[in-house]
Amino acid sequence: MSKQKLLIKGGRVLDPSQNLDRIADALIEGNQIKALGSNLASRMKLDGIQAWDAKGLWVMPGVIDLHVHLREPGREMDETVATGTRAAAKGGVTSLCCMPNTEPPIDSPRMVQFILNKSKEQGAVHVFSAGCVTKGQKGEELAEMGLMAEAGAVAFTDDGKPVMNTQIMRRALEYSKSLGFPVMDHCEDAHLSQNGVMHEGLVSSRLGVCGIPAEAETLMAQRDIQLAEMTGGRLHLAHVSCAGTVETIRQAKRLGVRVTAETCPHYFALTDESLVDFNSNFKMNPPLRTQKDLKAIQEGLRDGTVDAIATDHAPHAPFRKSAGLESAPFGVIGLETLLPLTMTVLVSEKILTPLEAVRCLSTNPAKILGLKMKGGLRVGMDADVTLVDPTTVREVTDQFESKSKNSPFIGWKLKGFAVGTIVSGRVVMRDGAFV
Ligand code: DOR
Ligand code: ZN
Repeated sequence: MSKQKLLIKGGRVLDPSQNLDRIADALIEGNQIKALGSNLASRMKLDGIQAWDAKGLWVMPGVIDLHVHLREPGREMDETVATGTRAAAKGGVTSLCCMPNTEPPIDSPRMVQFILNKSKEQGAVHVFSAGCVTKGQKGEELAEMGLMAEAGAVAFTDDGKPVMNTQIMRRALEYSKSLGFPVMDHCEDAHLSQNGVMHEGLVSSRLGVCGIPAEAETLMAQRDIQLAEMTGGRLHLAHVSCAGTVETIRQAKRLGVRVTAETCPHYFALTDESLVDFNSNFKMNPPLRTQKDLKAIQEGLRDGTVDAIATDHAPHAPFRKSAGLESAPFGVIGLETLLPLTMTVLVSEKILTPLEAVRCLSTNPAKILGLKMKGGLRVGMDADVTLVDPTTVREVTDQFESKSKNSPFIGWKLKGFAVGTIVSGRVVMRDGAFV
């Protein structure tokens, strides 16, 4: 049987991996990129094959989200592999890395296999799994990192919780070095953050709510950067939220430490002022910070200090989130608003060029996870492609594919939504509809 072909015609092809930003055609054959160039149809005699008119659209390597909570197993009321990956496909995300803070946690090779098998059966997009750093995410004993890597884990993290024990973090980084996979660090000094609910500052004082100081994040980032330097391990800082951490990473990179970092749209689009109405859809950990932090995050993305934009998609069922600001769980969903927030807040405002945005959304995340055939559109690479409409403005509603609705962006008017999601050469979403 001949392989299926799809010609994506006349789009603005953006591929940072080859510094490419021009109007071109892209030909997919089977699950690979077969050709890239002008007038492919006539040059390659492709008459009669399936074609997608991409005039006016961006054609980019599929978005790779490094940080997603799929909630399976154990919290299927909030999200499942099926619903979470549909939300991803709707948002133009073709690959994601799922977090292991499930119930039970993904802390053994058996659990890694479970989630990867489930994703193969029920996932709408590619799912890669992180495994825990410590057994049961208890922070006491190193998990079987080597065996989990053999089973297919691509990163290690106790995300949701910090690894407070410095010796355990040191060992995890030593293993990460030999395994070649990053430790994704949830930077939080739990003694400093204590019972905090939001950023510690003027707004928390005004509201009379317990705060989490920015130093809770920055101190831990500093500790772990020192450990990365000491061990030569691969450190990736998750959900960076504040100016101090950005500056810490900047210095570390200058010194040649192996550290990468991600931030999330809420940290470059929102501040702690959003919490004045006690709306728990603005509660996440780390918390929304100040305008100064927001500007520092944007500058960190612009100058490459922060490598990637991830969602920290953290679904919580409505009844959990309606428990009031103090008792509601931390976390917001993000898969379906990742692209338009990046486009509207960063690209339209000229903080990132289109190529830089694609680098943060796809090329760098692929590098961080060691996915050599993803993150670019070079001939022979995986045919994971996202098509984006950069101009049409739409209002975000609570009609999400995700099982949960806890988005802080409902009511925002955004542009730059995904209009096509192609996974391994197969069109999964087109114009908002599943194919
Ligand atoms: O806001 C958050 N939600 N931060 C985390 O670190 C964990 C996550 C969750 O699992 O809900
Ligand atoms: Zn997370």
